[in-house]
Amino acid sequence: MKAIREMMKRVLQAQYPVLRGWAWLSVANRAASTLTIVAIFAMGAQLNAKGEITVGGIVTFVNFAMMQIGKLEQFAGFISGLFFQTHSLSDFFCVLDTKEVLHEKPGAPLLPADLKGEVVFDNVSFGYEASHPALKHLSFKVPAGGTAALVGPTGAGKTTALSLLYRAYDPSAGRITIDGIDIREVSVNSLREHIAVVFQDPGLFYRSIADNLRIGNPEASDAELEAAAQAAEAHNFIIVKPEGYSTLVAERGRSLSGGERQRLSIARAMLKDAPILILDEATSALDNATEARIQRALNALTQNRTTFVIAHRLSTVRNAGVILVLKDGQLVEQGRYDELVALGGLFAELDRGGKFVADAQEALPGDLEDVLVTG
Ligand SMILES: Nc1ncnc2c1ncn2[C@@H]1O[C@H](COP(=O)(O)OP(=O)(O)OP(=O)(O)O)[C@@H](O)[C@H]1O
Ligand SMILES: [Mg+2]
Repeated sequence: MKAIREMMKRVLQAQYPVLRGWAWLSVANRAASTLTIVAIFAMGAQLNAKGEITVGGIVTFVNFAMMQIGKLEQFAGFISGLFFQTHSLSDFFCVLDTKEVLHEKPGAPLLPADLKGEVVFDNVSFGYEASHPALKHLSFKVPAGGTAALVGPTGAGKTTALSLLYRAYDPSAGRITIDGIDIREVSVNSLREHIAVVFQDPGLFYRSIADNLRIGNPEASDAELEAAAQAAEAHNFIIVKPEGYSTLVAERGRSLSGGERQRLSIARAMLKDAPILILDEATSALDNATEARIQRALNALTQNRTTFVIAHRLSTVRNAGVILVLKDGQLVEQGRYDELVALGGLFAELDRGGKFVADAQEALPGDLEDVLVTG
């Protein structure tokens, strides 16, 4: 309270001189126009007494004067508006003038429509700040249709590595190819059309639920929309909302729970139906039973798609074609589950330490009730 009071005092101190000046100006402005009208009437009355002007002439003059005053006031309003808006205007141009981080070659070709989806990271390094690299010399290959699981301690660079694949950033060294094509050589839009992402922190827009789901696939029919929502276990919570699929989502999805956001995000990725799929802790906010039910749909979704998963489920990690173990931005181990456990390195340590949780029983809503009732 004290700090706010102090701040208000300073704001008023700075504002009063300006407000006072502005007040005098508007008083002068109004007074001038009123005096003008009064003067026209006075002079008109005199001239009328001498028979030099008719009453109609006086009325015409007054109207003409008022029109001119109106225009002048508009002009003054425009000037003061310009003065008040300069800050917003300069902010606006600042945004327009921001240099792009990504450079797209003019006329860059599209990724071929029949993409197989073989992804290769070739000695990729990247840092948010030059002094502190987040990824160091990352090299791996995921065959078309294969599944790679990224594991490692928090802050290891898992999310960062995958963000390079859809070009949120470009690597500072090395290159990333899809089907042998360097992703920097093709148009960013076409690259992103081929990749569906369930983000670790799923973002939603201030639009209806249906609009949010259609982002990756604007042409999807209502039936397809509903099928995706069903598979992602989202349909049931959507239809109980006041306006169902037309319910507005608050900015960044704040009006939904974390698990609801995640399920919408999964449904969105399912609807997009892209050849490459990224699941960054896609089910971390869900309870075991819901997670188990979605997992079936996710397993079906990953069929014949190159998939990258960052997951905490043992079965996901165990079934992955290749496990990439990251630590401090470096790929320290890679291989299949059994190989890595046998190796006895970081992965075996994470596995022993309970980093990966076993699958829950797939429960139906009825069973869940039993669990709750029986405690
Ligand atoms: N936008 C950013 N700007 C600057 N540094 C960042 C940014 N995002 C991540 N980092 C840093 O990069 C490193 C790798 O972060 P990243 O998010 O890739 O980790 P992660 O392996 O996904 O971790 P988690 O398991 O917690 O999700 C961390 O040290 C993090 O602080
Ligand atoms: Mg992450």
